[in-house]
Amino acid sequence: MNATPASKVLDRVLVLEMVRVTEAAAIAASKLIGRGDEKAADHAAVEAMRASLNELAMDGTVVIGEGERDEAPMLYIGEKVGSAQGSGPRIDIALDPLEGTTITAKAGPNALAGLAIAEEGCLLNAPDVYMDKLAVGPGYPEGVIDLARTPTENVAAVAAAKGVRPNEIIVCVLDRPRHADLIAELRAIGCGIQLIPDGDVAGVIATTNEDTTIDLYMGSGGAPEGVLAAAALRCVGGQFNGRLLFRNDDERARARKWGIEDLNKIYKLEELAKGDCIFAATGVTDGSLLQGVKRLKGGVMTTESVVMRASSGTVRWVKGDHRRAR
Ligand code: FBP
Repeated sequence: MNATPASKVLDRVLVLEMVRVTEAAAIAASKLIGRGDEKAADHAAVEAMRASLNELAMDGTVVIGEGERDEAPMLYIGEKVGSAQGSGPRIDIALDPLEGTTITAKAGPNALAGLAIAEEGCLLNAPDVYMDKLAVGPGYPEGVIDLARTPTENVAAVAAAKGVRPNEIIVCVLDRPRHADLIAELRAIGCGIQLIPDGDVAGVIATTNEDTTIDLYMGSGGAPEGVLAAAALRCVGGQFNGRLLFRNDDERARARKWGIEDLNKIYKLEELAKGDCIFAATGVTDGSLLQGVKRLKGGVMTTESVVMRASSGTVRWVKGDHRRAR
């Protein structure tokens, strides 16, 4: 039997199915909110996401997952998922069953379950290293941001394009000691800095929502999260630059293993997630993008999700009432 071309199936079947998958992971993780156990929360989300993915009629391959095969028992890079191996559409999947494990353990804001899918070969197979990230929301001239420039120059360019002064620009940054120089440079030009404890997928996506008041995202975080965030920006607009950061030769070797030759390359959106792609996320805890899972009287649970598609630019917000979820 010939495999169905993935492009024909991305919208019809898989768009809403993706929400079921992220809902399942978010509901599972939500039982561990505030319980102080990051590993248990992550494990619950991984198991639920994997079980849901395996119900879908597709020939899926995890290209960004929980780690390499020897370090992750489930949803490892290269794992095949889906019930139609060899016959269904060939789909590549970048997933983060629980983005914000520490946030969830501490009941903080912005934890979510997320994934991106695309046709085979369209998502960068990023190794699990750090990535320097720079993002701005939609409505700016192409090239307004450039990771090759200094933070001061990027703020100046965005401020000029927005018609404001640099000290009116708000930048979201992960609160980490490694960002001390970046924060000092931004403070020196008077920017507002929103420091987040974790969760840079939500931080990058926040640049696309004017209600957050965040203009730019800057700083380093996980490379897999960078690909997920880039897939989301492909759908809603905005610009993203990412450069892989390597701490040692082992990390460089990992990158080469995944076919990355230019280790200093600055990746733009289309190089991280090209072609048609779908991004879906469900809130685990309340955040700037999504409300978290709520447990109401009578055993009802509510979820809020978003699913977006690059080729159409459609963004769907999905609220779920789950009466039999446990
Ligand atoms: P986890 O959910 O895997 O804990 O990731 C949370 C996160 O904050 C990501 O959003 C971010 O990309 C990464 O960790 C940053 O890594 P680090 O905590 O090492 O600075």
